[in-house]
Amino acid sequence: MVEPIQGEAGVVVPDDGYLKTVRDLCTQYNVLFIADEVQTGIARTGKLTCCEHEGVKPDLLILGKALGGGCIPRELCFG
Ligand SMILES: Cc1ncc(COP(=O)(O)O)c(C=O)c1O
Repeated sequence: MVEPIQGEAGVVVPDDGYLKTVRDLCTQYNVLFIADEVQTGIARTGKLTCCEHEGVKPDLLILGKALGGGCIPRELCFG
């Protein structure tokens, strides 16, 4: 499980080819590749998902808070 770009404790952009290597290793060893795109998803890096920059498809994509834009309906908080 990786963030395509680390977004806490400094923004860390990985080297080119990092996500492709992760994808290939996960496929080779039959491990799920989970991309946490809470901070990078929904076009924040110029494409719909950050993984698209390297043309890779994770097995699972985490977008939860990115979809909400940081907002949740008041009724969900306070009933
Ligand atoms: C990249 C990323 N992944 C996951 C989370 C986890 O969010 P939560 O604990 O609200 O589900 C956060 C929280 O901000 C985040 O920035």
